[in-house]
Amino acid sequence: MTQLVVRHLLIDLDAPIATRWNGGDAFRTAFFNALSLSFPVGEQYFIDSVRNALQALPEAQRARFADEVKGFVGQEATHRRIHALFNGHLAAQGLPNDIERRALHRMQANAQRNVRVHLGVTAATEHFTAIFANWVLRHPWALDGAEPRLRTLWLWHAAEESEHRSTAFDVYQALSGDHRWRIRLFRYVTAVFLWDLIRQTLINLWHDGSLLRWSTWRSGWRLLLARDGMFRASFGAWRDYFAPDFHPSQHDATPGRAWLHEHSAQYGVVGRPAGA
Ligand SMILES: [Fe+2]
Ligand SMILES: [Fe+2]
Repeated sequence: MTQLVVRHLLIDLDAPIATRWNGGDAFRTAFFNALSLSFPVGEQYFIDSVRNALQALPEAQRARFADEVKGFVGQEATHRRIHALFNGHLAAQGLPNDIERRALHRMQANAQRNVRVHLGVTAATEHFTAIFANWVLRHPWALDGAEPRLRTLWLWHAAEESEHRSTAFDVYQALSGDHRWRIRLFRYVTAVFLWDLIRQTLINLWHDGSLLRWSTWRSGWRLLLARDGMFRASFGAWRDYFAPDFHPSQHDATPGRAWLHEHSAQYGVVGRPAGA
Protein backbone atom coordinates (compact mmCIF):
# COMPACT_ATOMS: atom_id res chain seq x y z
CA MET A 1 0.00 0.00 0.00
CA THR A 2 1.41 3.39 -0.97
CA GLN A 3 0.80 6.48 1.18
CA LEU A 4 0.05 9.25 -1.31
CA VAL A 5 -0.11 12.88 -0.28
CA VAL A 6 -1.49 15.70 -2.39
CA ARG A 7 0.97 18.52 -3.05
CA HIS A 8 0.20 21.99 -4.27
CA LEU A 9 2.95 23.44 -6.35
CA LEU A 10 4.05 26.94 -5.36
CA ILE A 11 4.70 28.25 -8.84
CA ASP A 12 3.13 31.07 -10.82
CA LEU A 13 1.62 29.95 -14.11
CA ASP A 14 -0.08 33.26 -14.86
CA ALA A 15 2.85 34.67 -16.82
CA PRO A 16 2.86 33.50 -20.46
CA ILE A 17 5.38 30.89 -21.53
CA ALA A 18 7.80 31.36 -24.42
CA THR A 19 7.02 29.60 -27.70
CA ARG A 20 10.25 27.60 -27.31
CA TRP A 21 10.24 27.49 -23.55
CA ASN A 22 12.42 24.37 -23.35
CA GLY A 23 15.86 25.90 -23.73
CA GLY A 24 14.96 27.45 -27.12
CA ASP A 25 14.90 23.91 -28.54
CA ALA A 26 12.05 23.35 -31.00
CA PHE A 27 11.84 19.55 -30.69
CA ARG A 28 12.13 19.35 -26.91
CA THR A 29 9.46 22.04 -26.58
CA ALA A 30 7.12 20.38 -29.11
CA PHE A 31 7.44 16.96 -27.48
CA PHE A 32 6.79 18.15 -23.92
CA ASN A 33 3.92 20.32 -25.19
CA ALA A 34 2.39 17.23 -26.82
CA LEU A 35 2.58 15.38 -23.50
CA SER A 36 1.00 18.30 -21.68
CA LEU A 37 -1.85 18.58 -24.20
CA SER A 38 -2.74 14.93 -23.50
CA PHE A 39 -2.81 15.29 -19.71
CA PRO A 40 -6.10 17.00 -18.76
CA VAL A 41 -8.26 14.55 -20.71
CA GLY A 42 -6.03 11.55 -19.96
CA GLU A 43 -5.75 12.18 -16.25
CA GLN A 44 -9.52 12.68 -15.92
CA TYR A 45 -9.91 9.29 -17.59
CA PHE A 46 -7.47 7.71 -15.09
CA ILE A 47 -9.38 9.27 -12.19
CA ASP A 48 -12.74 8.01 -13.49
CA SER A 49 -11.38 4.53 -14.26
CA VAL A 50 -9.78 4.03 -10.86
CA ARG A 51 -12.78 5.49 -8.98
CA ASN A 52 -15.24 3.27 -10.86
CA ALA A 53 -13.03 0.25 -10.29
CA LEU A 54 -12.86 0.99 -6.58
CA GLN A 55 -16.65 0.93 -6.43
CA ALA A 56 -16.68 -2.42 -8.24
CA LEU A 57 -14.37 -4.06 -5.66
CA PRO A 58 -15.75 -6.24 -2.88
CA GLU A 59 -16.23 -4.33 0.40
CA ALA A 60 -13.03 -5.53 2.13
CA GLN A 61 -10.83 -4.73 -0.88
CA ARG A 62 -12.51 -1.35 -1.26
CA ALA A 63 -11.58 -0.42 2.29
CA ARG A 64 -8.01 -1.56 1.64
CA PHE A 65 -7.57 0.73 -1.37
CA ALA A 66 -9.74 3.68 -0.33
CA ASP A 67 -6.96 5.89 1.06
CA GLU A 68 -4.50 5.19 -1.73
CA VAL A 69 -7.13 5.88 -4.40
CA LYS A 70 -8.02 9.14 -2.66
CA GLY A 71 -4.36 10.20 -2.84
CA PHE A 72 -4.10 9.06 -6.46
CA VAL A 73 -7.20 11.04 -7.45
CA GLY A 74 -5.91 14.12 -5.58
CA GLN A 75 -2.53 13.95 -7.33
CA GLU A 76 -3.97 13.43 -10.82
CA ALA A 77 -6.59 16.15 -10.27
CA THR A 78 -3.81 18.58 -9.29
CA HIS A 79 -1.74 17.59 -12.35
CA ARG A 80 -4.62 18.13 -14.75
CA ARG A 81 -5.47 21.49 -13.21
CA ILE A 82 -1.90 22.78 -13.55
CA HIS A 83 -1.45 21.38 -17.05
CA ALA A 84 -4.75 22.99 -18.08
CA LEU A 85 -3.17 26.35 -17.10
CA PHE A 86 -0.01 25.44 -19.03
CA ASN A 87 -2.14 24.38 -22.03
CA GLY A 88 -4.04 27.67 -21.85
CA HIS A 89 -0.79 29.41 -22.80
CA LEU A 90 -0.28 26.94 -25.66
CA ALA A 91 -3.82 27.64 -26.90
CA ALA A 92 -3.04 31.39 -26.79
CA GLN A 93 -0.04 30.62 -29.00
CA GLY A 94 -2.48 28.99 -31.45
CA LEU A 95 -1.52 25.32 -30.94
CA PRO A 96 -4.38 23.01 -31.92
CA ASN A 97 -5.04 20.21 -29.39
CA ASP A 98 -5.41 17.22 -31.68
CA ILE A 99 -4.35 14.61 -29.12
CA GLU A 100 -7.23 15.59 -26.82
CA ARG A 101 -9.77 15.50 -29.66
CA ARG A 102 -8.64 11.99 -30.64
CA ALA A 103 -8.70 10.76 -27.03
CA LEU A 104 -12.23 12.11 -26.50
CA HIS A 105 -13.37 10.39 -29.68
CA ARG A 106 -11.88 7.06 -28.55
CA MET A 107 -13.40 7.42 -25.10
CA GLN A 108 -16.83 7.98 -26.61
CA ALA A 109 -16.45 5.01 -28.93
CA ASN A 110 -15.45 2.75 -26.01
CA ALA A 111 -17.73 4.16 -23.32
CA GLN A 112 -19.78 0.95 -23.08
CA ARG A 113 -16.79 -1.24 -22.25
CA ASN A 114 -16.56 -2.62 -18.76
CA VAL A 115 -14.68 -1.16 -15.84
CA ARG A 116 -11.84 -3.73 -16.10
CA VAL A 117 -10.99 -2.66 -19.64
CA HIS A 118 -10.81 1.01 -18.69
CA LEU A 119 -8.70 0.14 -15.65
CA GLY A 120 -6.39 -2.04 -17.77
CA VAL A 121 -5.91 0.86 -20.20
CA THR A 122 -5.22 3.15 -17.23
CA ALA A 123 -2.68 0.77 -15.68
CA ALA A 124 -0.93 0.42 -19.07
CA THR A 125 -0.80 4.19 -19.62
CA GLU A 126 0.39 4.72 -16.07
CA HIS A 127 3.27 2.35 -16.86
CA PHE A 128 4.23 4.69 -19.68
CA THR A 129 3.97 7.79 -17.53
CA ALA A 130 6.03 6.11 -14.79
CA ILE A 131 8.87 4.95 -17.04
CA PHE A 132 8.98 8.25 -18.95
CA ALA A 133 8.87 10.13 -15.63
CA ASN A 134 11.76 8.08 -14.28
CA TRP A 135 13.71 8.80 -17.43
CA VAL A 136 13.12 12.57 -17.14
CA LEU A 137 14.20 12.53 -13.48
CA ARG A 138 17.38 10.68 -14.44
CA HIS A 139 18.07 12.86 -17.50
CA PRO A 140 17.18 16.39 -16.41
CA TRP A 141 19.15 17.77 -19.39
CA ALA A 142 15.89 17.16 -21.28
CA LEU A 143 14.72 20.37 -19.57
CA ASP A 144 18.00 22.31 -19.82
CA GLY A 145 17.39 26.01 -20.33
CA ALA A 146 13.72 25.84 -19.29
CA GLU A 147 12.52 28.52 -16.88
CA PRO A 148 12.83 27.29 -13.29
CA ARG A 149 9.03 27.34 -12.74
CA LEU A 150 8.48 25.10 -15.79
CA ARG A 151 11.31 22.78 -14.86
CA THR A 152 9.76 22.47 -11.40
CA LEU A 153 6.36 21.74 -12.92
CA TRP A 154 7.67 18.86 -15.05
CA LEU A 155 9.91 17.32 -12.40
CA TRP A 156 7.19 17.53 -9.73
CA HIS A 157 4.74 15.79 -12.06
CA ALA A 158 7.36 13.18 -12.93
CA ALA A 159 8.11 12.53 -9.25
CA GLU A 160 4.42 11.98 -8.43
CA GLU A 161 3.91 9.71 -11.45
CA SER A 162 6.79 7.62 -10.19
CA GLU A 163 5.35 7.70 -6.67
CA HIS A 164 1.87 6.47 -7.60
CA ARG A 165 3.02 4.06 -10.33
CA SER A 166 1.49 1.02 -8.59
CA THR A 167 -2.00 2.30 -7.78
CA ALA A 168 -3.94 1.54 -10.99
CA PHE A 169 -1.98 -1.70 -11.40
CA ASP A 170 -2.81 -2.92 -7.88
CA VAL A 171 -6.51 -2.10 -8.25
CA TYR A 172 -6.47 -3.94 -11.59
CA GLN A 173 -4.93 -7.00 -9.96
CA ALA A 174 -7.50 -6.83 -7.15
CA LEU A 175 -10.37 -6.50 -9.62
CA SER A 176 -9.44 -9.21 -12.08
CA GLY A 177 -5.73 -9.87 -12.31
CA ASP A 178 -6.24 -11.14 -15.87
CA HIS A 179 -2.74 -11.26 -17.38
CA ARG A 180 -3.86 -11.88 -20.97
CA TRP A 181 -6.05 -8.76 -20.99
CA ARG A 182 -3.40 -6.73 -19.19
CA ILE A 183 -0.96 -7.48 -22.03
CA ARG A 184 -3.53 -7.05 -24.79
CA LEU A 185 -4.44 -3.60 -23.48
CA PHE A 186 -0.78 -2.69 -23.02
CA ARG A 187 -0.09 -3.45 -26.71
CA TYR A 188 -3.09 -1.34 -27.67
CA VAL A 189 -2.00 1.58 -25.44
CA THR A 190 1.57 1.38 -26.76
CA ALA A 191 0.40 1.76 -30.37
CA VAL A 192 -2.21 4.44 -29.71
CA PHE A 193 -0.30 6.53 -27.16
CA LEU A 194 2.98 6.62 -29.09
CA TRP A 195 1.29 7.37 -32.41
CA ASP A 196 -0.83 10.15 -30.89
CA LEU A 197 2.17 11.61 -29.08
CA ILE A 198 4.30 11.63 -32.24
CA ARG A 199 1.42 13.04 -34.31
CA GLN A 200 0.85 15.91 -31.86
CA THR A 201 4.62 16.58 -31.75
CA LEU A 202 4.64 16.86 -35.56
CA ILE A 203 1.66 19.24 -35.46
CA ASN A 204 3.45 21.38 -32.86
CA LEU A 205 6.61 21.47 -34.97
CA TRP A 206 4.64 22.39 -38.08
CA HIS A 207 2.99 25.21 -36.15
CA ASP A 208 6.42 26.36 -34.95
CA GLY A 209 7.75 26.36 -38.51
CA SER A 210 10.59 24.00 -37.57
CA LEU A 211 9.27 20.63 -38.83
CA LEU A 212 11.66 20.48 -41.77
CA ARG A 213 14.82 21.75 -40.08
CA TRP A 214 17.84 19.51 -39.67
CA SER A 215 18.46 20.86 -36.13
CA THR A 216 14.94 19.82 -35.08
CA TRP A 217 15.52 16.19 -35.97
CA ARG A 218 18.99 16.13 -34.50
CA SER A 219 17.43 17.19 -31.22
CA GLY A 220 14.59 14.65 -31.68
CA TRP A 221 17.11 11.86 -32.12
CA ARG A 222 19.02 12.99 -29.06
CA LEU A 223 15.88 13.24 -26.91
CA LEU A 224 14.19 9.99 -27.91
CA LEU A 225 16.37 7.58 -29.85
CA ALA A 226 20.03 8.08 -28.88
CA ARG A 227 21.54 5.48 -26.55
CA ASP A 228 20.34 7.35 -23.45
CA GLY A 229 17.28 8.86 -25.18
CA MET A 230 13.82 8.49 -23.67
CA PHE A 231 12.39 5.80 -25.96
CA ARG A 232 15.56 3.77 -26.34
CA ALA A 233 16.66 3.86 -22.71
CA SER A 234 13.12 3.05 -21.52
CA PHE A 235 12.74 0.00 -23.77
CA GLY A 236 13.74 -2.52 -21.08
CA ALA A 237 11.37 -0.97 -18.53
CA TRP A 238 8.60 -0.96 -21.17
CA ARG A 239 9.19 -4.68 -21.90
CA ASP A 240 9.09 -5.59 -18.20
CA TYR A 241 5.31 -5.06 -18.25
CA PHE A 242 4.90 -8.29 -20.26
CA ALA A 243 6.27 -10.51 -17.46
CA PRO A 244 3.48 -12.44 -15.68
CA ASP A 245 5.03 -11.55 -12.30
CA PHE A 246 5.67 -7.91 -13.14
CA HIS A 247 4.86 -5.30 -10.52
CA PRO A 248 5.57 -1.54 -10.90
CA SER A 249 7.35 -1.52 -7.52
CA GLN A 250 10.13 -3.58 -9.15
CA HIS A 251 11.19 -0.31 -10.80
CA ASP A 252 13.32 1.99 -8.69
CA ALA A 253 11.54 5.15 -7.57
CA THR A 254 14.57 6.71 -5.85
CA PRO A 255 15.00 9.65 -8.28
CA GLY A 256 11.42 10.83 -7.69
CA ARG A 257 11.66 10.45 -3.93
CA ALA A 258 14.95 12.35 -3.92
CA TRP A 259 13.48 15.18 -6.00
CA LEU A 260 10.49 15.53 -3.65
CA HIS A 261 12.79 15.50 -0.65
CA GLU A 262 15.19 18.10 -2.05
CA HIS A 263 12.47 20.44 -3.36
CA SER A 264 10.01 20.44 -0.48
CA ALA A 265 10.16 24.27 -0.36
CA GLN A 266 8.51 24.35 -3.78
CA TYR A 267 5.24 22.73 -2.78
CA GLY A 268 2.81 22.59 0.09
CA VAL A 269 1.30 19.33 1.28
CA VAL A 270 -2.43 19.45 1.98
CA GLY A 271 -2.75 19.87 5.75
CA ARG A 272 0.95 20.73 6.17
CA PRO A 273 2.88 24.01 5.61
CA ALA A 274 5.39 24.28 2.73
CA GLY A 275 8.80 22.78 3.43
CA ALA A 276 7.57 20.80 6.47
FE1 LIG B 1 -0.33 12.84 -13.60
FE1 LIG C 1 -0.49 9.03 -13.02
